[in-house]
Amino acid sequence: MTVDVKNEIKRLIDEINEHNYNYYVLAQPTISDYDFDQLLERLIYLEKQYPEYLQPDSPSQRVGGQVINEFKAVAHSVPMLSLSNTYSKEEILAFDQRVRQLLPEQDIEYICELKFDGVSISLIYENGVLVQAITRGDGEKGDDVTQNVKTIKNVPLKIRGNDFPSSIIARGEIILPHKGFTQLNIQREENEEPLFANPRNAAAGSLKLQDSKIVAKRPLKSFIYNLISEHSAVSTQLESINTLKNWGFNTGDYYRLCKNIDQIWKFINEAEQKRNSLPFEIDGVVIKVNSLQQQIDLGYTAKSPRWAIAYKFKAEQAETNLISVDFQVGRTGVITPVANLKPVSLAGTTVKRASMHNADFISKLDVHIGDYVYVEKGGDIIPKIVGVNLNRRELFTEPVQFPEYCPECNTKLVNLPEEVAIICPNYDDCPPQIKGRLEHFISRKAMDIQTLGEGKIEVLYNYNLLNNVADFYDLTYDQILGLEKVITNPETLKTKKISFREKTAQNIIDAIQKSKERPFDKVLYGLGIKYVGETSAKQLAMHFSNIDNIINADYEQLMQVENVGEKVSESIINYFSSQSHIEIINRLKKAGLKFEIDESEKITGSIFQGKSIVVTGSFGTSQNRKYLEQQVVNNGGKLTSSVSSKTSFIVAGENMGPEKLKRATELNIPIISEEKFLEMIKGEETKTDN
Ligand code: IVH
Repeated sequence: MTVDVKNEIKRLIDEINEHNYNYYVLAQPTISDYDFDQLLERLIYLEKQYPEYLQPDSPSQRVGGQVINEFKAVAHSVPMLSLSNTYSKEEILAFDQRVRQLLPEQDIEYICELKFDGVSISLIYENGVLVQAITRGDGEKGDDVTQNVKTIKNVPLKIRGNDFPSSIIARGEIILPHKGFTQLNIQREENEEPLFANPRNAAAGSLKLQDSKIVAKRPLKSFIYNLISEHSAVSTQLESINTLKNWGFNTGDYYRLCKNIDQIWKFINEAEQKRNSLPFEIDGVVIKVNSLQQQIDLGYTAKSPRWAIAYKFKAEQAETNLISVDFQVGRTGVITPVANLKPVSLAGTTVKRASMHNADFISKLDVHIGDYVYVEKGGDIIPKIVGVNLNRRELFTEPVQFPEYCPECNTKLVNLPEEVAIICPNYDDCPPQIKGRLEHFISRKAMDIQTLGEGKIEVLYNYNLLNNVADFYDLTYDQILGLEKVITNPETLKTKKISFREKTAQNIIDAIQKSKERPFDKVLYGLGIKYVGETSAKQLAMHFSNIDNIINADYEQLMQVENVGEKVSESIINYFSSQSHIEIINRLKKAGLKFEIDESEKITGSIFQGKSIVVTGSFGTSQNRKYLEQQVVNNGGKLTSSVSSKTSFIVAGENMGPEKLKRATELNIPIISEEKFLEMIKGEETKTDN
């Protein structure tokens, strides 16, 4: 009986994997969705009944389920390098010449591929089964995201056929197609979650989600372009791609062998043309020497292979009509001009609004209402205006005028000396400034009160329940229950009804309570002191240990802190000189927020005072590594990521990167083990104990 079950499970796995391949890689399904679901359901049923037969390559794993608390840091057995980039034709020419010089009198063939704009991934297969998926990380080690990657439908859980080496590494890119990206952001907007700036960030964020069930719902896709295997019979990159394709990987089908620079240019131009109509983002073309032997002969520079180069496309531009300009007031009172444009299609989306930076930019550009302007998409969601087409300017048009008074509270605007920004000085009463500070306080990097968002804050502000950050901790369930309001998103002009029903109200109150556990540096960051970012908040917290020390610190003392310069010090002094801020802090203290660092973060010794230390390699879990890094800081040392002549010593785990090793040897920098490092701290502890 059990033998039958085992066989049935195996048969179902093979059948479903084949259907997945037909559907997701070949785009040629041979079965109806209904029949497919029936097969999957049967498999899941059997696996539940007979968990001992659950296979790692079972397609049931694609639905996710496991929750990962911490991604394990794993070393790459072969480092994941990057490519040298260029935007110019000359450099492609120079690349070709270099290759030909290094391989005199040899025939050279190139393969041109698309440069997929996503997150690189390394997939490890043992005996044909996917056993591990690792992100690029710093190239030497990355995060183990196997459970999440298993949910991506066109990543084979098992290699097709039976002609493959016992261990292979397949490398490529995980991307989120345009459609999935737009839908995800619409959903996030509805849930009042921060939007992803671009599909690449969305793909990266998805791979790092702790709940693989949520990852399974995101339509991520893989493109695989690199095969690493000691025993494969391939001798060219083209053969690698074909082999990968036969094994069931999605390689895409837009790549081409090119024999000379003209053919390379033709491919690049075609790809750039095609870029707009592709359902996913590409940011260039990768040109690789086709012969793997020639690749070996050409070798690597410190950072990248000599056998490949990436040609990056310039940011895409579109030309459209400037209808009007809005002046938005930000959290810190800075006024940002935002253009309303005649809708134009750009890089897969329709653009209606674009940033115009500041007053200086407007006057330098001398832009008029009604002008035809060039818009460009950078890495951010909001595109920007980059120029004006003066040839198309109509007669009698008016230059864009920066307002003199705040469009929100009518206070006279000021231009602070030495700053380009024009600001509204009405810190206490200008509504967007108040709401902006409240939104900043609840944001993920600050107090992380995820159940509240822009919309709900707007409602609570309108009902006069929130005016400053201390008010969050006075909110009660009864006060917010039943509140309701229709609000309009100023960007999209979409309206939305926000209501605080029982469950929402309770979740909000719970989340606010929970935020009291946030560490001191997050609270400090959440206060929204001008120029105090995440890093400087952390440094200030570590340096001064508690808020009173910061409040009482003078300019010189503040300046001693790493990452805190003149502007930041002045701003801190200015912030705490206001009685209303001190009152807010006293109320927050009373509510029970943390205003001092935790015991574990306190500086416990000074053995590393004045020392600059690099922690590198893998130490089992990333938690272990964080512990070691924390110990450096706790003992007065400075953590740095790269090896330089200033490095005092390196704490190395497994598989320290070859570059760091080389540098350390050149500069004669001591490398010590984790054990030795722990002994050093221990020695110090026993000394202080005595
Ligand atoms: S080959 C030794 N091919 O671009 C480097 N990379 O900076 C091997 N990428 O990290 C990379 N499409 O994430 C290669 N067709 C392609 C690619 C590609 C996208 C990414 C990859 C890499 C980065 C290069």
